[in-house]
Amino acid sequence: MSAPSYRPDDLIAQDIETYLALHQNKTLLRFITCGSVDDGKSTLIGRLLYDSKQIFEDQLAALESDSKRVGTQGQNIDFALLVDGLAAEREQGITIDVAYRFFATEKRKFIVADTPGHEQYTRNMVTGASTADLAVILIDARKGVLTQTRRHSYLAHLIGIRHIVLAVNKMDLVGYDRAVFDAIVADYAAFAKSIGIEAFVPIPISGLAGDNIAARSASMDWYDGPVLIDHLETVELDVTADQARPFRMPVQWVNRPNLDFRGFAGLIASGTLKPGDAVRVLPSGRTSTVARIVTMGGDLPEAVAGQSVTITLADEIDCSRGDVIAAADDPPQVADQFQATIVWMDQEELLPGRAYWLKTGTSTVSATVQQPRHAICVNTMAELSVKTLGLNDIGVAEVYTDRGIPFEPYAGDGAHHSKDLGGFILIDKITNRTVAAGMIAFALRRSQNVHWQAIEISREAHAAQKHQQPRLLWFTGLSGSGKSTVANLVEKKLHALGKHSFLLDGDNIRHGLNKDLGFTDADRIENIRRVGEVAKLMTDAGLIVLTAFISPFRAEREMVRRMLPEGEFFEIFIDTPLEVAEARDVKGLYKKARAGQLANFTGISSPYEAPLNPEIRIDTTRTAPEEAAEQIVEAIMGVWSPVL
Ligand code: ADX
Repeated sequence: MSAPSYRPDDLIAQDIETYLALHQNKTLLRFITCGSVDDGKSTLIGRLLYDSKQIFEDQLAALESDSKRVGTQGQNIDFALLVDGLAAEREQGITIDVAYRFFATEKRKFIVADTPGHEQYTRNMVTGASTADLAVILIDARKGVLTQTRRHSYLAHLIGIRHIVLAVNKMDLVGYDRAVFDAIVADYAAFAKSIGIEAFVPIPISGLAGDNIAARSASMDWYDGPVLIDHLETVELDVTADQARPFRMPVQWVNRPNLDFRGFAGLIASGTLKPGDAVRVLPSGRTSTVARIVTMGGDLPEAVAGQSVTITLADEIDCSRGDVIAAADDPPQVADQFQATIVWMDQEELLPGRAYWLKTGTSTVSATVQQPRHAICVNTMAELSVKTLGLNDIGVAEVYTDRGIPFEPYAGDGAHHSKDLGGFILIDKITNRTVAAGMIAFALRRSQNVHWQAIEISREAHAAQKHQQPRLLWFTGLSGSGKSTVANLVEKKLHALGKHSFLLDGDNIRHGLNKDLGFTDADRIENIRRVGEVAKLMTDAGLIVLTAFISPFRAEREMVRRMLPEGEFFEIFIDTPLEVAEARDVKGLYKKARAGQLANFTGISSPYEAPLNPEIRIDTTRTAPEEAAEQIVEAIMGVWSPVL
């Protein structure tokens, strides 16, 4: 079925500004439409645009380049409103398949996110829904409540959309039969209750015929509820609730045009602010008072949630992008361990223990997700026991960030919840893809109660006593490539030179500390994480540490590199082609793997990601072990400082 084609020609930004100016005093309702393929979504949207008699729509893409300019200058708040919710995704540069359309009626203006209905498009639905006030759940009257209906409703609820409209469409195709409508509403009501949706507004419509969209249908006199546009025009908005909550503004950038001015720019997520107000900067916790609230149009005596402003403070305190400026007497919490609900949106499944970028508000930190506590079956709401999350899965898991972040729970009724400070996305560090969206439920108490104990004998003191600089020589390569052999020789040489060293070897560690781990991707990640932590402690003790692990993934090798001070980590790639390692087959494992007796064997049924830029590469087909060790010691001595 094709949608009525009411789209005007491409609009230029000037027209949009004029248009917004015309409607600037109207409230804005953002909503999403969701339904299965063929439920008639496009028809409905076309109909809404047409019947609102004020045809004006375009894809958000057309606005993007201009809205940034206008938004940051603070001249037109409507523009900021149009795009702010997607800031994270836009900066991330992911393509999302959500079409945003803009239209207005006498009473209100609207942005509708049209999210594709197919199951793969959870990502789009989550993206479109994250800023929506209302969801129109479309049902085909001939089909009733489907898995998709349940899935979309659950996601909409999870994301915190308070207002749900159940639009039972294609009533013309069931003879405008009240019994059909009533049965669907009863069916949906039972489901809605089970997932915690307290209320919804059911409307029988026909997008194609126009029944109950703008005008009351003559064919359904049994229906006395609101028609769709009326409802959209009058449903109560949550704007006042945002303003009533305590002040929070994630800092988007620090504006420092000259030495006399330092302003912190951002979009006020909640609350109100006046010059003279006491504020606290998080996570540092430092306090100050607001000196000025600056906009292009002049200083403001007061600013409220939804406005983009630049704040100057009375004191010179540290505050940078990603920090949150908050009411001094009522700040958000800071923590580094959370329980969260996660919607996985990538083809590649979650790897528990893998470090991803976690982006919340305007800050980005490194984070790992633990094995999920459970996944949620959207049909039955049952909690399923799982090891990981795949495409479209929804689960609950613990998330650990590498430093404390200011946050508030995503959902809730009181003053202390926030979509801005409780919602996050996860980004794969290598592919840069957005792989998940998440909602913080609460901080784990242990994260608040475990503190760093200051240690008096520093790592420098430990190293100085040994007359050496700590190093981590990280050998990586296929099984049988010669890592252990070369590492052993290197350690012997270091020992002879009077150096204090220690060799951690894969096969040995797997008999003790890591005997609970196998060879799945997740287990290998955990293997390397633990070894990285142990090696880090040993370098803190002043040792030169050598490790010999396949360590097949770039991401984890990079993670260990980042755990150490700059220049301390040496990636040593023992480069032996698979054929050569297999021909040697010292332990007979390749033979077993080829025979199918050994699962997940590196190079055969499990990947090896060769280093792209190792500090040292040894081609074992040309260099004998003794010579390789010589080269490594020399290379390392060469960059060692005179302390040695
Ligand atoms: S890693 O991938 O997690 O870094 P690690 O270096 O600890 O691996 O262990 C690799 C050693 O375990 C190999 O040298 C080999 O002796 C043994 N091994 C047993 N099963 C496997 C397997 N499926 N894949 C790779 N190595 C295996």
